[in-house]
Amino acid sequence: MKKIIAKPQPILSPQTIQMIATYNEDGSVDLMNAAWGGQIDNDLLILSLDKSHHTVSNLLREKAFTIGLPAAKDIVDCDFVGIVSGNVDPTKFEKTDLHAESSEKLHAPVIAEFPITFECTLEEVIENETMGFCVLARVEDILFNEDVLDEKGRPDIEKMNLCFFSPIDHSYRAYGDVVAKAFSCGLAKKGK
Ligand SMILES: Cc1cc2nc3c(=O)[nH]c(=O)nc-3n(C[C@H](O)[C@H](O)[C@H](O)COP(=O)(O)O)c2cc1C
Repeated sequence: MKKIIAKPQPILSPQTIQMIATYNEDGSVDLMNAAWGGQIDNDLLILSLDKSHHTVSNLLREKAFTIGLPAAKDIVDCDFVGIVSGNVDPTKFEKTDLHAESSEKLHAPVIAEFPITFECTLEEVIENETMGFCVLARVEDILFNEDVLDEKGRPDIEKMNLCFFSPIDHSYRAYGDVVAKAFSCGLAKKGK
């Protein structure tokens, strides 16, 4: 196949939609959408953040925040908080249909609707010349909504209705069909 060469672009796909929730100085909630990031160790996540975001000043001050993975039904609110800044509208979270509870572990809000929530502390800040900087998030705990667990208490991906961000066409997409079993379908080729 002939390859077409292109300049570097932030298109690694798909990206998890990471919803970062923090407390503002007055105790109200701020929430932002962050798609550029990922998991780099059992209990370490990385986020690529623009320093201008209100979330950044909150998480540098509090050193605590949560990262929620949203279900498709809440995507309009997730997009809204990704296009309106708490710097401009400090009441933006109140305009969503989402609900915040206080984390029992950290000084950070937990969004009730998100099926999975990572309760995080700020581990490290890594300066980055283009995007602003990267934040290493230490995962202290993971919260699962009860209704996304199976009868044995294990997280059930089918019940979560998670969705993802496609940076190639700027769309939100649903989790797709199972194609094959990982760490297993390749066994058929072993010993050939
Ligand atoms: C789909 C989507 C993905 C985004 N991903 C990021 C990201 O990875 N990093 C970032 O700094 N901003 C990202 N943003 C932009 C912020 O969410 C946005 O600027 C937000 O208004 C910041 O809110 P705050 O100022 O209240 O913290 C994204 C926005 C959308 C809609």
